[in-house]
Amino acid sequence: MTKRYLDIVEVRQLDWLLGSAADAMIICDAVGRIILANPPLLRMFDYDANDLIERPIELLLPEPARRVHVGLRTDYFKDPRTRSMASGRELSGRRSNGTEFPIEVSLSPLQAQQGVSLVMVTVHDISARKQAEQALRKTQDELRQLAGHLEHIKEEERKRIAQEIHDELGGLLAGIKAYVSVYIERETRAGRPAEPLLVDAVALADNGFQAVRKVITDLRPSVLDQLGVWAALEWYADQIEKRSKLVCSCAIDNHVTSLQIEPEISTMLFRVVQEALTNVVRHANASSVSVHATTDDTTLVISIQDNGTGFNADSKLTGDSWGITGMGERARYFGGEVTVTGSMDQGTCVRLSLPFEKLRSRH
Ligand SMILES: Nc1ncnc2c1ncn2[C@@H]1O[C@H](COP(=O)(O)OP(=O)(O)OP(=O)(O)O)[C@@H](O)[C@H]1O
Ligand SMILES: [Mg+2]
Repeated sequence: MTKRYLDIVEVRQLDWLLGSAADAMIICDAVGRIILANPPLLRMFDYDANDLIERPIELLLPEPARRVHVGLRTDYFKDPRTRSMASGRELSGRRSNGTEFPIEVSLSPLQAQQGVSLVMVTVHDISARKQAEQALRKTQDELRQLAGHLEHIKEEERKRIAQEIHDELGGLLAGIKAYVSVYIERETRAGRPAEPLLVDAVALADNGFQAVRKVITDLRPSVLDQLGVWAALEWYADQIEKRSKLVCSCAIDNHVTSLQIEPEISTMLFRVVQEALTNVVRHANASSVSVHATTDDTTLVISIQDNGTGFNADSKLTGDSWGITGMGERARYFGGEVTVTGSMDQGTCVRLSLPFEKLRSRH
């Protein structure tokens, strides 16, 4: 049967070559007909050699892939001497009993005598690798869900603690201040001078108020809940200017403010910008930073650009730096993306993008 293509010596040589190979291999002619198949391949697809010889190679593919493959076959097998062959191509294989499994296929050209062009096909069963990849993807997904859930709990907890500090500690300080103030007023009305220690106590209560307000705001700025993310970003940029020597500008494009955004997503946007700005203050050695919120056709884009030392995000991330990893994870949880680019002469740019359709839903 193979005489049509090759002389008998050549077939024996090829047969020996394939027989001694540990990998599953087939040799096809230039139109994709199987000439030889070695034992590992026959075992992999559960065929006898006689079932395969002279049959088209598509027999080893499932039905839908077969049709596509027949269409492509001329490309795969046409004149193998002159074209580069596919290597590591992932396909589905089909055993004789119809079951399917993932395979990786590599083709290499073979030049037989009398100018006959052949193709050597090596097949690897990649079921285990695919299962491992799937398990890894599942674990990554679960970890992302867990991180998102923990983020949600943390944010709720911050809200609760801020509220409690406000009500309990704020109430306590207000009470102390009120009692002492009333006493001082009574004494003053009675013509007695105010006791300096009590006047100091009122001033201390005022300082206490400020400290409480700062703790509450650091936990969760109320402007975020009351006026939304854009006002919160403007407010935060203002805070950065006041607390550091940076010039911090914040430009929110008009149409951005009309976007409807879920509260959880607002929190995510705020926290990502907050971390980016904190990094600028801590690491960039910059004199200015700008926050810009805009849109392209389909996506909300917030960029934070500083004029500092810049850095290479790929090489700088260590086990202790969670800020940049956290920004990416937070954004990904809601279907967005964070990219960090930096160079010595252009500073660092953190770019957060989130498609419009993700603004109102978690996934
Ligand atoms: N804007 C920036 N300019 C220059 N270097 C930066 C900038 N942002 C980040 N870096 C560098 O990238 C590193 C990683 O940042 P990342 O926010 O992940 O961690 P971190 O700020 O060091 O710690 P944390 O986990 O508390 O955020 C920083 O240590 C710093 O060297
Ligand atoms: Mg950081």
